[in-house]
Amino acid sequence: MKILLLGSGGREHAMAWKIGQSKSVDKLYIAPGNAGTASVGENVDIKVNDFESLKSFALNQNIDMIVVGPEDPLVNGIYDFFKNDSATNHIMVIGPSAKGAQLEGSKEFAKEFMQRHHIPTARYLTITAETIQQGFDFLETLQPPYVLKADGLCAGKGVLIVPTLDEAKKELKDMLQGMFGKASAKVVIEEFLSGIECSVFVLTDGKNYKLLPEAKDYKRIGEGDKGLNTGGMGSVSPVPFADSVFMNKVRERIIEPTIKGLYEEQINYKGFIFFGLINVKNEPYVIEYNARMGDPETESVMPRIKSDLVDLFVGTEKGTLDQYTIDIDPRTVGCVMLVSGGYPESYQKGYSIEGLKETLKTESILFHSGTTLKEGKVVTDGGRVIAISSYGESKEEALEKSYKVAETIDFERKYFRHDIGFDL
Ligand code: AMP
Ligand code: GLY
Repeated sequence: MKILLLGSGGREHAMAWKIGQSKSVDKLYIAPGNAGTASVGENVDIKVNDFESLKSFALNQNIDMIVVGPEDPLVNGIYDFFKNDSATNHIMVIGPSAKGAQLEGSKEFAKEFMQRHHIPTARYLTITAETIQQGFDFLETLQPPYVLKADGLCAGKGVLIVPTLDEAKKELKDMLQGMFGKASAKVVIEEFLSGIECSVFVLTDGKNYKLLPEAKDYKRIGEGDKGLNTGGMGSVSPVPFADSVFMNKVRERIIEPTIKGLYEEQINYKGFIFFGLINVKNEPYVIEYNARMGDPETESVMPRIKSDLVDLFVGTEKGTLDQYTIDIDPRTVGCVMLVSGGYPESYQKGYSIEGLKETLKTESILFHSGTTLKEGKVVTDGGRVIAISSYGESKEEALEKSYKVAETIDFERKYFRHDIGFDL
């Protein structure tokens, strides 16, 4: 089989690494990929939202399957683009339709969907510039802190958590006046839920699903979960508090009603669903849905999947996932992200990365996030640079291995958090 994987981050390197191990794959292309994906497949210089170029490439190379990493092309309708065209509808596409991707693309859509299907989530109200007074009134009924979410995609930056009522009203006004452009023309105001978060993933064919390993990610730049939000500074899988009692609640109250809801509403969904959950006194609530895998969660989830991922993708496309089993490695994987100094604010690119060869002697796996090849050398090409994942019998053992490797890789202004997993 010939596969084309879309994306260029650590998530995609981890998926490419796993896809590359499949017995069914003859050729793997990654568009656009990074220096890491180039070692497990062939990078193709096409952007993930350039559907016409992707189509030409897929037809010229006889691609059998497209796997979509990031949310943007999904929300922009890549599934429908390939499936509604008789020249390309034979190609398997792993990812939801544009309608399904609205679970991530519109906070309002997601909240209304959860309400229709009685899925536990925070109380909320959707506000536009016309209804701002209702927004102020709703804020008055809530306890601080206040949660304001831009309705549309904002590359992970559209959520504000505000300590006082006065600030919340001011931020609501600013958001509606275009703080996040069109994405915040509607704002979802939510009740704040207090608890510990975890990320739960499934692969679904729209009717059946397979539960993948859960993970916890560490979003803040600073140790002790302080400072600015980032794309994610590390992850751990499994999550100790996601025990069988908790996960049974997640299946019954959240995963199954979501998949049944999609099916009943005839929303075409063949791909990953990422449930961003919060555990409030042992009760799970949905904080958000994503229509893709998480990053850096994928870097600790993929190494724990023992089954052939491409076989599972074929079952996803054919609607026969119920005929597959999924084997999970019981060991823990701990992932530490090396980032460029200054991130998530401004940072430099193009620093040469040293010490990569030495890591080949270790058991750790490197997943490149923001790297590129320049004159044959691997250089930094993003804020998040390289994820280091290691197995262990415990999270301590796994993370200790990742931290050892974190010390041996070097580039100018390298930074990483030393406390991944501290709260588990
Ligand atoms: P989201 O983009 O919806 O995942 O929100 C970003 C982050 O804001 C989440 O990972 C949570 O840490 C936090 N958050 C979002 N909604 C809530 C809520 N209702 N209560 C508490 N924290 C929240
Ligand atoms: N790690 C969170 C995300 O991928 O959205």
